[in-house]
Amino acid sequence: MLNLNYIRSQFPGLETDWVLLDNAGGSQIAKPVVDRINEHFYTSNVQLDGSYPHSVLAKERHDEAHRKLAEWINASDPRELVMGSSTSLLVRILADNFRRILRDGDEIIVTNCDHEANIGAWRDLGNYGFIVKEWQLNPDTLRLESKDLEELLTEKTKMVAFTAASNVLGMLNPVKEFTRIAHKYGAMVCVDAVAYTPHRLVNVKDTDVDFIVFSFYKTYGPHYAMMYGKLNILELLPGFNHFFIKDPPYKFQPGNYNFEFCHGLGALPDYFADMAEKHGYNGEDNRRDKFRYIYSLIAKHEEKLSKKVLDYLNTRNDIKIIGPTEYSSDIRVPTISFVQKNRDSREITLKTDEHKVAIRWGHFYAYRLIQDLGLAKQNGVVRISMVHYNTLEEVERLFRALDHAL
Ligand SMILES: Cc1ncc(COP(=O)(O)O)c(C=O)c1O
Repeated sequence: MLNLNYIRSQFPGLETDWVLLDNAGGSQIAKPVVDRINEHFYTSNVQLDGSYPHSVLAKERHDEAHRKLAEWINASDPRELVMGSSTSLLVRILADNFRRILRDGDEIIVTNCDHEANIGAWRDLGNYGFIVKEWQLNPDTLRLESKDLEELLTEKTKMVAFTAASNVLGMLNPVKEFTRIAHKYGAMVCVDAVAYTPHRLVNVKDTDVDFIVFSFYKTYGPHYAMMYGKLNILELLPGFNHFFIKDPPYKFQPGNYNFEFCHGLGALPDYFADMAEKHGYNGEDNRRDKFRYIYSLIAKHEEKLSKKVLDYLNTRNDIKIIGPTEYSSDIRVPTISFVQKNRDSREITLKTDEHKVAIRWGHFYAYRLIQDLGLAKQNGVVRISMVHYNTLEEVERLFRALDHAL
C-alpha cells in the first residue's frame, strides 16, 4: 500500500481545499524537484563549460541529472536525451529532420486517436512528397489493432507515430508489440509517452523504441520535455542547430536550454527511488529495481482509484465511458473520460467546480478522435485524471460533486 500521507507531503501544491483531478492536464510538481531548481538558481546559475568553479559545478549538476534521467528510462547513454520546451516542439524538430532525409514516395503512419502533437508534425510532411497513412482506432473496441497496422505497413514506411497511453481514453497501447511490427518492415517508431510517464516506468531497451517523447509538467516536474532517440539514429539525422554543432543532443537543442530544469529533474528519479525505500524495498541497491518496485505499487493504487470511479460511472445508464471500462492496470491508466446523454460536457465540469473538484472537459488536442467519435457537438468528453497521490477520499468528494452535476 502506498503511504499517501508521506507522498502528499512531497507535493506542496496539494495543500488546497480543491480536489485536483486534472492531472493529465498538468500534475503537481514534486518538492525535491523544486528544491533542486532553487539550488541551481542560488548556487550555480552561470553558463556551463567555463573553467571557474561555479561553471564546473553547474556542468557537473547538469551531467549528473542527465545520467539519472537516462537510467530512469533505461537509456544507455545520456547523449540520447534531447531536452526541449514541450513535446509538441520536440516532435516538430524530429519531423523536420525526417523531412530532410526522406525520399519522395516514402511513407509515414499516424493514428486518428492521439494528441495532435504526434500527428500534425508528421502529417505536414505530406506537403513535401511523402505519403501519410492513417491508422484508425477500431471504433468498437476503442483500441488500435496490430492487424490494422500490418495492413498499412510497406517497405516504404519510414515512421510509425503512436502513443503509449491515450490522454482521453486512458488505454495503454502494447508499445513493444507495435514497435516489433514496425521494425519488421524497416520502419522506425516515435512514441508519445506524455500520458504514460506519470503512471508507468519507461524502458527504452526492452521496448526497443527509436524515439519516445514526454513532458515533465504532467510527470511531477516543470514545463519542460524530453525526447529519447537511439544514439546511432540521432547521429545520422541532420540536426536543428548551427552548422558547426554536430553532436547529439546539442544538434537538436538550438540556443541555450533550461539548465535549472535539467538539474531539478535529476531529483525526479531520486523521488521514485527514495519512495521505494520508504515503502519496504529490501532488494539490492539497484535503482532500476527500486523503480520497478515502486511503480508496481503505484499501478496497484491507481487500479483501486480507477475501479472506484468506473464502478460509479457504470451504475448510471445515461453515462457512456469513452475508453476501456476495465480497471486493470494492464489495460488502462486512471484517466477516465465519459459523456452524459444529451448533456454538454462543459456544463458538467462547471457544476463540479462549485464543489471545488477540478476535472475538465474538451477534446484535449486529441481533436481527430473526438471528431471521429462524433463527440464534438457535446463539447468533447468530461475527463477525470488521477495519479498516485490521489486518494479514495478524494474520489468520494468527486462522487458528491458528480451526484450534483449529472
Ligand atoms: C498525450 C499528450 N501528448 C502530447 C501533449 C503535448 O505536450 P506539450 O504541451 O508538452 O507539447 C499532451 C498535452 O496535453 C498530451 O496529453
